[in-house]
Amino acid sequence: AFPSSVRIVEVGPRDGLQNEAKAIPAETKVELIDRLAAAGCRTIEAGSFVSPRWVPQMADTAVVLSRIRRHPGVSYPVLVPNMKGLEAAIDSGCEDIAVFASASETFSRHNINCSIDESLERFAPVLTAAHGHGIKVRGYVSCVLGCPYQGAVAPESVADIARRLFAAGCYEVSLGDTIGTGTPFAAMKMVETVAQDVPLSAIALHFHDTCGQALANIYACLGLGVSVVDSAVGGLGGCPYAKGASGNVATEDLLYMLNGMDVETGVDLDQIVNAALFVSRVLGKHPNSRVASARLTQ
Ligand code: HMG
Ligand code: MG
Repeated sequence: AFPSSVRIVEVGPRDGLQNEAKAIPAETKVELIDRLAAAGCRTIEAGSFVSPRWVPQMADTAVVLSRIRRHPGVSYPVLVPNMKGLEAAIDSGCEDIAVFASASETFSRHNINCSIDESLERFAPVLTAAHGHGIKVRGYVSCVLGCPYQGAVAPESVADIARRLFAAGCYEVSLGDTIGTGTPFAAMKMVETVAQDVPLSAIALHFHDTCGQALANIYACLGLGVSVVDSAVGGLGGCPYAKGASGNVATEDLLYMLNGMDVETGVDLDQIVNAALFVSRVLGKHPNSRVASARLTQ
């Protein structure tokens, strides 16, 4: 059955901007995050504490976090790959972090320079220390519907990593179609397989829209009862270590669909469109979404 409400996890300021070639001023990131909070987003991924040599665009995450206007009831999670990242997150007063693993061995090597098993070993002390500080930890699994380096990925491999992240104490596991090659039946089969090991209430969808399938995939998986969806304002995004992969499903396109289905989100479509137009203007790009593009031609 379809959920009556969906929690949108806005990942634009992180996943959306991490891959931009030109430097984006911290002020722009701050304004984007503040606009998203004002639009009603309750979870806004604000940056990453990763190596600045690997992802230069996220190097100013601490500055961004120190300048945003923190709205009550809004969480601002950041990505953390290791203890060094956790320490930076603690110094910035973060209450939410996310660790990120992969269902593909080759992608794991390219993205975080270690094997899947090594990454999970590395996350264990991060989770323990985070929980000791009262910090909530989300887990990501990448390449759930395909890998840019090794092609097909079995649903059982995704379920295995998701189960281990959940067992390690992640409150939610976000399933990433990193390269956006999935289609609805494959997405459903993958989620059904994961749901044998992780409760549906702890599963989130994180679909990139490279092949135009993200909304169809989300629709299919909402029908299974998933109720948390990651999206990026303006359809921004891509992973620097997944060549050719395009942005996340656009928040405004997702909202347009959910509003039409009478699914509650608490997020205001017009304000999201305005935020999409704002960030596209700063980046000198056309918004990568149907709804914002339609607004421009009205
Ligand atoms: P490494 O080179 O193996 O790490 O990288 P290392 O421990 O050997 O350290 C090397 C250098 O990095 C050292 O500096 C460390 O201090 C520094 P040096 O002494 O050479 O000057 N360093 C750090 N600096 C800042 N913060 C840190 C940190 N850790 C080490 N936390 C590492 C391993 C994991 C650090 C690196 O591979 C990395 O940072 N990777 C991040 C990749 C990334 O952010 N990818 C994008 C996010 S994932 C994604 O987009 C997918 C997702 O959206 C879901 C989906 O779509 O599927 C989540
Ligand atoms: Mg992503």
